[in-house]
Amino acid sequence: MTRALAVQIRQATSGDAPAIARVQVRTWQHTYRGILPDPFLDSLDVERSAESWRAVISDRRRITHVVDAPGVVGFCTAGPARGDPTGFRGEVEAIYVDPADQGQGHGTALVRATMGWLAARRLTPVLVWALEANTNAHGFYRSLGAQRLDTRLLRIADALYPEVGFGWPEGALTGG
Ligand SMILES: CC(C)(COP(=O)(O)OP(=O)(O)OC[C@H]1O[C@@H](n2cnc3c(N)ncnc32)[C@H](O)[C@@H]1OP(=O)(O)O)[C@@H](O)C(=O)NCCC(=O)NCCS
Repeated sequence: MTRALAVQIRQATSGDAPAIARVQVRTWQHTYRGILPDPFLDSLDVERSAESWRAVISDRRRITHVVDAPGVVGFCTAGPARGDPTGFRGEVEAIYVDPADQGQGHGTALVRATMGWLAARRLTPVLVWALEANTNAHGFYRSLGAQRLDTRLLRIADALYPEVGFGWPEGALTGG
């Protein structure tokens, strides 16, 4: 008898750090090719990145959810907002779905689980930043009801890149 293997959204454990790092490096190299410099993208290293993810996952002020399909194919990290614009209490810091698994609703499921966690801690309203050139991400956030806010400059590998903020109104996606 065959049994369908369920896709699960669950909180990350430190054992997920290498798989999260693999998804991040693959997705950055796919998404940001032509946007960020090749030498920077080619230098991304899964083992080094896994070390940073272990620290993020064990930080109790933040939450990382993974899509387990089975095996980690996507993740989302969120926590208290890290600065401007004022009025936002929660922030989606990173959301990545492996290029081979995009467009199947995983990103939406990750955002919904994340919004539930943030709302339960009154970390709303919520904002997220995306590179100005990453227009696919803008479409994704708009499709989930976020509105475009300010632009700022982000330093990556010794250069400055414009980023756009998107904000979800209070109660969006949580029914509250
Ligand atoms: C952005 C991302 C997280 C979305 O995850 P996903 O699993 O692909 O998204 P979903 O399948 O849940 O898509 C939900 C909706 O978003 C919109 N959307 C998704 N990808 C889109 C795109 N490339 N362009 C425009 N709209 C898009 C669609 O309306 C889609 O609904 P539909 O499938 O009914 O058309 C994922 O594509 C990704 O990791 N992209 C590369 C990395 C990235 O840009 N991360 C964000 C950094 S700020």
